[in-house]
Amino acid sequence: MPHQKTILVTGGAGFVGSNFVLRWVREGGSAVNLDLQTIAGNPANLASLADHPRHLLIRGDICDAELVSHLLRKHRPIAIVHCAAETHVDRSILAPEEFIRTNIQGTFTLLDQAKAYWASLEESARGTFRFLHVSTDEVYGSLGTDQPAFSEISPYAPNSPYAASKAASDHLVRAYHHTYGLPTLTTHCSNNYGPFQFPEKLIPLMILHVLEGKSLPVYGDGLNIRDWLYVEDHCSAICAVLAHGRPGETYNIGNGSEHTNLAVVSAICDLLDELRPGKTIGSHKKLMQFVPDRPGHDRRYAIDTTKIQKELNWQPMIPFHEGLRRTVEWYLENSAWIENVRSGAYRDWICLNYGERAARK
Ligand code: NAD
Ligand code: TYD
Repeated sequence: MPHQKTILVTGGAGFVGSNFVLRWVREGGSAVNLDLQTIAGNPANLASLADHPRHLLIRGDICDAELVSHLLRKHRPIAIVHCAAETHVDRSILAPEEFIRTNIQGTFTLLDQAKAYWASLEESARGTFRFLHVSTDEVYGSLGTDQPAFSEISPYAPNSPYAASKAASDHLVRAYHHTYGLPTLTTHCSNNYGPFQFPEKLIPLMILHVLEGKSLPVYGDGLNIRDWLYVEDHCSAICAVLAHGRPGETYNIGNGSEHTNLAVVSAICDLLDELRPGKTIGSHKKLMQFVPDRPGHDRRYAIDTTKIQKELNWQPMIPFHEGLRRTVEWYLENSAWIENVRSGAYRDWICLNYGERAARK
């Protein structure tokens, strides 16, 4: 499908990737979407693009150099937007191997194939080609309450196997720019939420648990802080960086919307009290239960977005409470999607992560 604006997206059946692909195609672009369809990768996220002439979903592995090379030479993308990753911190604690394989080996494979493809392009196409690596704020480690937010020059201090694997991939991206001149861009975004997020992450997990009348497992004292960004704002930032970011640069993305986990879970309960009142009297907050903490749990993330605001004129559009309402409404309206993701593998994860926590209480 050669098209002026064809890009290769990796991980485009996942949460951020599918929201990005839907936006890209809606805005007239074409996307070749390479996704292994792991537990978090779900073709149902792309159902509205079924048979769309400008979207091609390929089930495959970013560690497969031959496949990546074939896709690049066949579809001749103007850019790669690299979202594919293993992404859940708790899973990375219980089973880190796949994080090393996909996040490090996979990013290396993609970079190496991108370099060969980029070198084969004509000079003008070489000048405009971009490799955009979607990374995370978690590479910077954890902040105390009074410390300034992470900026692009904050030192790396990854604490979880997930964060360490993303940090390693960032360094490979940096090296491919510095050594070979590959026109790379790296983004470091804070916690996202919104439609199509797999319910292993805090916000959708809590929504589903309320709907099922199950307890709401709050790790530790519930006072860990995250800066929550609506996924559409993350996607608009990726578009801004892709269009106008300077090769070799990194850009932090966030919302200045710091909330404790307790505040987030309470806000979800308030919304569901209003939109889906329980059969028994009282707030869903009574389902909240403190459970043993995540090992090495980062206390606080906060993002300084001065660079992307000043350089690329980007800013988030959706305030947290509006985005959270939209998200809760989306999950209420999409029960078929929820049923589809609640597979045996999902139930096994809930038993593994939370069964063990309950046992340790
Ligand atoms: P996700 O887990 O929902 O999706 C990841 C996707 O990658 C899935 O579709 C999965 O099938 C695919 N994938 C995994 N291994 C693969 C492989 N070997 N080959 C091809 N595809 C593979 O994750 P997400 O939340 O959409 O995150 C996407 C990217 O954004 C990640 O790189 C993550 O680090 C970054 N990010 C996410 C957030 C967030 O809050 N969700 C915040 C900052 C950065
Ligand atoms: P998560 O959504 O896993 O994102 P991350 O760890 O990448 O920030 O978790 C967000 C916060 O919510 C984090 O502080 C851990 C906490 N949390 C819980 O308290 N209970 C849960 O069941 C989950 C999944 C997360």
